[in-house]
Amino acid sequence: MQGLVASTADRPLLSAIENAGLLGITSKQLASTTGRPVVEVEATLRRLSQAQRVLRVGKGLWILPRYKGQPGEESDVRGPSWYLDRFLKGFELPGPDPFQGEIQFNPNEELPVHRWWPYVQGFSAEFVRRTCEAFDIGPGKVVLDPFAGSGTVSVEARLRGAQTIASELMPVAAMVIRAKHLWTAAPSRVRSAARKLVVRARRGTPAPPPFLRETSRQFAPGALDSLLRMRAELERLPAGEVRSLLELAFAGVLVASSRLKRSPCLGYARKPEVGAETPYQRFLGMAELIATDLTWLKPQRGRFGPPAQVLEENSKQLDLPEASVDLAITSPPYVNGMDYVMNYKLEMAWLGQVRSYEDLARLKSDMVACDNVSPSVISAHEAGRWVKEDGWLSHALGQIEENIASKTVYRRRDMAEIVAKYFDDLVPVIVAVHRALRPGGKFVVVNGDSWMAGSYVPGDLLFGRLAVRAGFEVEKFEVARVRRSGQRRDFLLRESVLTLRKGAS
Ligand SMILES: C[S@@+](CC[C@H](N)C(=O)[O-])C[C@H]1O[C@@H](n2cnc3c(N)ncnc32)[C@H](O)[C@@H]1O
Repeated sequence: MQGLVASTADRPLLSAIENAGLLGITSKQLASTTGRPVVEVEATLRRLSQAQRVLRVGKGLWILPRYKGQPGEESDVRGPSWYLDRFLKGFELPGPDPFQGEIQFNPNEELPVHRWWPYVQGFSAEFVRRTCEAFDIGPGKVVLDPFAGSGTVSVEARLRGAQTIASELMPVAAMVIRAKHLWTAAPSRVRSAARKLVVRARRGTPAPPPFLRETSRQFAPGALDSLLRMRAELERLPAGEVRSLLELAFAGVLVASSRLKRSPCLGYARKPEVGAETPYQRFLGMAELIATDLTWLKPQRGRFGPPAQVLEENSKQLDLPEASVDLAITSPPYVNGMDYVMNYKLEMAWLGQVRSYEDLARLKSDMVACDNVSPSVISAHEAGRWVKEDGWLSHALGQIEENIASKTVYRRRDMAEIVAKYFDDLVPVIVAVHRALRPGGKFVVVNGDSWMAGSYVPGDLLFGRLAVRAGFEVEKFEVARVRRSGQRRDFLLRESVLTLRKGAS
């Protein structure tokens, strides 16, 4: 019966509804996504609804029936729709608008400069470009990213002629951003220095391995030997642009030359054993790519802004002159998200940016809190006023505590405190960005929501509420994509784009 009702012509419509997941999608949005007239879409929806293939929920939102009754959708429990509905109404927003376009890093792997450091957690260059276009970013404008990662914002905004500021705590990321702004290096020097380095490495002696206990497990013996030889030669290079670019190339081939993969967390992979020659070839390949992009940049140099100002510091201490920034774009770590330090310890150890497990622990305790942070850092933390006074946050924290109390075993019994610290860590950054923006300046934030300890935490909306407390107005909320929860594969989460505005007064 169902097969007769839904034809192949219905597929684009059904897959658009599927993509909207728990959030649902309106008939107008469906019409624009599928390129069909609204009346036709509405007629199809009526037919599919009679056959129980789609379901109308709330105010004209369509979902697939399997999303009905998802955890958090019952009326007495606060789930995604409960929060989203109130957030949109509270700020008189029409949405949630579906965001059009690519937001994730993947397409950057083909793009000049961005491809020097493939960074799974990064923005797509297209997203930054469109945001800069929307806010008229060009020469004379200043763009800030307080959680700069691999520097996508600074590279894209500089290409448009703007001045850029990138604040980032993790040393390997700060190093990557600096290197990605070395646009005056001579391509021929990069190529010849890379070739000479490989020749010398083959003849030379290996450097001592980094301090990580698992090094010999992470690499096949031949590949490890080649990498250590290259590392020894890198240390002999004189400081300067070429060395920085070759360090970037070297760091960029470590995982590919190992038994590991990053997807997005670093872990062991089943893959063919890497031979002794591979690290040399990959390194030369990366150096060639950098040289090619430097050649592409050269004739256009006059159009670009200056190299990014990279602040390698804790963004909680960000202190920029008041009203000096036109646009801030960022993506903070997500609540209960990645442990960046553990994920990038390999590169940091090989580059000598961290020299011991104590260095790693110190760095981790300064990062925005994640669920891998040391229990002593959490127990020493006293929740701040804004976090304590936010009704939604208190509710979510209370629910997490209650759920954990009812379990005999749970990985982190201090999860509610971790989440409280996570939001506390964001508050000074939001305040600093607000101060730094010019009146009317925008703050565009890509963020996500989370499912943890049997509770739903709307991290993106809570960020918005804290921003309002700091003086921002909420201008727009867009849903960029639906993603699956790591803890409950059947629970759909979102990635969103929140646009905030600093008022004129
Ligand atoms: C989602 S990533 C940003 C990715 C970036 N949008 C890009 O395109 O590459 C978040 C970044 O925040 C950084 N971070 C976390 N805590 C920080 C802190 N307290 N101060 C500065 N940066 C921090 C992490 O190291 C990570 O690189």
